Amino acid sequence: MTCETEEEPITAVETSRGTVYIRRRCRCDLIKSLALDPGIGAFFRYNEGSAERQRELFMGIAVNEDEEVLLVYTDKGVIVGGITVLHPGPHEHWGKLGDPRIYEMGSIEVSVNWRGLGIARKMLDFLFANGFYDDKIVYSMELAWHWDFRHIELTKFEYRDMLLALFESAGFVLLDTDDPDIRMDSANMLTVRIGENVDQELRDKFWYSLFETGDYRWGF
Ligand SMILES: CC(C)(COP(=O)(O)OP(=O)(O)OC[C@H]1O[C@@H](n2cnc3c(N)ncnc32)[C@H](O)[C@@H]1OP(=O)(O)O)[C@@H](O)C(=O)NCCC(=O)NCCS
Repeated sequence: MTCETEEEPITAVETSRGTVYIRRRCRCDLIKSLALDPGIGAFFRYNEGSAERQRELFMGIAVNEDEEVLLVYTDKGVIVGGITVLHPGPHEHWGKLGDPRIYEMGSIEVSVNWRGLGIARKMLDFLFANGFYDDKIVYSMELAWHWDFRHIELTKFEYRDMLLALFESAGFVLLDTDDPDIRMDSANMLTVRIGENVDQELRDKFWYSLFETGDYRWGF
């Protein structure tokens, strides 16, 4: 495992609980050196060891030069949130296109102890601020079975609306698809950020890939 990705600048954000730092393209050595807030672990259902499993997941992405881990951490070196952006695997719906300009936002999480302070919105703002993704497509598959109903008292559709509004504020739009995972629950959704400088060829390629079942995409 090599960890040679370049670090990106960092930004400081003031919250009512103090200053936090958002850093893009975090390297493995940084990820190893930081502690994880115990309120991190939504994707492992907060089971024992979920914070460490999340660290492993971050490291597995950070080793890849063209993928990224954005982290938010306190001045005491405690991770309180993060976003991962990676290429879909070759057998995944949009991975089959094999286009390096297509990315998946794999996860976005803020620690239970740090929610409602505007951190998720700031993370998304910083992720897209330098224009790196403006000639690329970033999609997010929102699957209701990953959502944190233990700590967020919203119905499934309120949760969906909350995420949609958050992602829309970062330039994502809701698109229809016949992807089997998305179709599995009516609250699931595909949101896509097509960068403003994405060329027509890539737009068309992505657009036609939304429906894989032949004529269905033409509405017959
Ligand atoms: C979804 C999540 C990332 C939001 O993080 P956050 O830092 O608390 O979000 P912010 O404080 O930036 O709020 C963003 C918007 O969502 C709204 N929001 C956040 N939590 C909310 C809640 N519990 N109820 C209603 N609205 C909520 C905020 O009001 C805000 O909207 P506004 O600016 O229009 O007021 C966080 O709840 C989380 O980690 N959840 C578990 C993991 C998850 O579900 N990830 C998404 C699927 S991958």
